[in-house]
Amino acid sequence: MGYEARFRVWRGDADSGELRDFTVEANEGEVVLDVIHRLQATQCSDLAVRWNCKAGKCGSCSAEINGRPRLLCMTRMSTFAEDEVITVTPLRAFPIVRDLVTDVSYNYTKAREVPSFTPPADLEPGDYRMQQRDVQRSQEFRKCIECFLCQDTCHVVRDHEENKESFAGPRYLMRIAELEMHPLDVADRRDEAVTEHGLGYCNITKCCTEVCPEGIKITDNALIPMKERAADKRYDPIVWLGNKLFRR
Ligand code: SF4
Ligand code: F3S
Ligand code: FES
Repeated sequence: MGYEARFRVWRGDADSGELRDFTVEANEGEVVLDVIHRLQATQCSDLAVRWNCKAGKCGSCSAEINGRPRLLCMTRMSTFAEDEVITVTPLRAFPIVRDLVTDVSYNYTKAREVPSFTPPADLEPGDYRMQQRDVQRSQEFRKCIECFLCQDTCHVVRDHEENKESFAGPRYLMRIAELEMHPLDVADRRDEAVTEHGLGYCNITKCCTEVCPEGIKITDNALIPMKERAADKRYDPIVWLGNKLFRR
């Protein structure tokens, strides 16, 4: 059965904007993105919203619903009471382009700052056979759809624009951890995670893990192990040497 859903949607641009109230039809089985599309089709043809797959796989439709970073296409209307006001706002940590669309280029800048996979220079094709356990160790991190919800929610940049320069954010610290776990990577990830990418800013609040739509345990499986390894290397040269000589 359809009903009239109550929506409060942020409308505006980089200079100014406001929350506006709408009543929009919602039907059984729909997600928030369906209702936003109906709003666009029936009342606000110029409403800007970014989306692509409508299947939780492209990471485009990230926004905030009732103040919580979420994918619009994976948030069921049935999560809310029919008379509840559903507030939809753009990602708070990134500059507004228009309405629900933000400029997420901070994330691309941070991605480029992480040096790519670096195998030993003299490694020939076929010299090394990957072990299944090495593949599995970082398998979880490769589920990332780059929705940037974790980047948006982390308090290190959410309320502190000035930290963006020196903090890569959970998604890219996780990328560093993934590369660091690779048995053939010889780049100095541990020192750089601290000195170049701001690992020390993370005080393991785990908000990133809570909002990840892929259920990746960013904090427990990437950030904390990375912090432990960075500490080993920085404070215990014997442990560091051992790890380098007898790589895990
Ligand atoms: Fe999104 Fe999770 Fe990837 Fe962060 S780690 S960008 S929340 S899928
Ligand atoms: Fe931020 Fe996640 Fe660390 S939310 S503080 S990166 S645990
Ligand atoms: Fe692709 Fe939502 S539209 S993740």
